[in-house]
Amino acid sequence: MRTNTGIEGLDAMLNGGLPRGRIILISGSTGTGKTTLSMQFIYNGIKQFNEPGVYMTFEQDKEKIKADMSNFGMDLDGLGDKFRLVGGPIATVYKYKRKTKAGVEDIISEITEIVKEIGAKRVVLDPINLFLMLFDNEDERRVALATLSENLTSLGCTTLLICEVKEQTMDISRYGFEEFVVDGVIALYSIKQGQSFLQGITVRKMRGVKHHREIRPYEITDQGIVIYPTQPWLPEDEE
Ligand SMILES: Nc1ncnc2c1ncn2[C@@H]1O[C@H](COP(=O)(O)OP(=O)(O)OP(=O)(O)O)[C@@H](O)[C@H]1O
Ligand SMILES: [Mg+2]
Repeated sequence: MRTNTGIEGLDAMLNGGLPRGRIILISGSTGTGKTTLSMQFIYNGIKQFNEPGVYMTFEQDKEKIKADMSNFGMDLDGLGDKFRLVGGPIATVYKYKRKTKAGVEDIISEITEIVKEIGAKRVVLDPINLFLMLFDNEDERRVALATLSENLTSLGCTTLLICEVKEQTMDISRYGFEEFVVDGVIALYSIKQGQSFLQGITVRKMRGVKHHREIRPYEITDQGIVIYPTQPWLPEDEE
């Protein structure tokens, strides 16, 4: 069973869509379009496939996200009860943790509650780095990510975890283990070429799916992310 992202080029690279109920890492450096792509996944889910969605931000102001997304033609307020935008600045998360000594279970139960409330089938956590920063060492981070993933899978949600990576690297995660815990990895690259940055997207892994492996060009347009699944990424690749 597949979950269409509704982003045509991406569904083509996946030969149909994301594996339903799985956990996918969306990795990329700053400004590569992680938030835009992930919101399109939620927005298209509601508009085209009648699947409610939850977008949890650990960092950005909710009103700013709404304003930014309206530039791509996404009216988040117009989605009504099928959509929830949760969260806010990380400071709140830290305060919350200190005040209540909240652990992974508390954060998970908060997500679970919202997912159940609206019957969400799609979930985005943006960015997962800040969630993982709440834990003190690698063992705890791994357990937290695995527990979070298991819970979202058991709720039947197809989930995108956004992962911020450093500039100008081919790294796909912050701590170096995230890609092993999840079911799939989609990487957004922005590599300096001459006087500009070339943007490319690739499916690094997708358990259970026969997907394309090439890096393909994409653009951020007034309609959001547009992927060109048959065009070469670098000029040298041209035949
Ligand atoms: N209408 C538009 N047309 C083309 N590009 C745009 C448009 N609006 C915004 N952009 C570009 O898209 C980028 C925003 O993408 P987005 O916020 O999804 O990236 P991100 O990877 O989530 O970034 P961050 O690191 O801030 O989280 C902007 O920085 C800008 O470069
Ligand atoms: Mg973002």
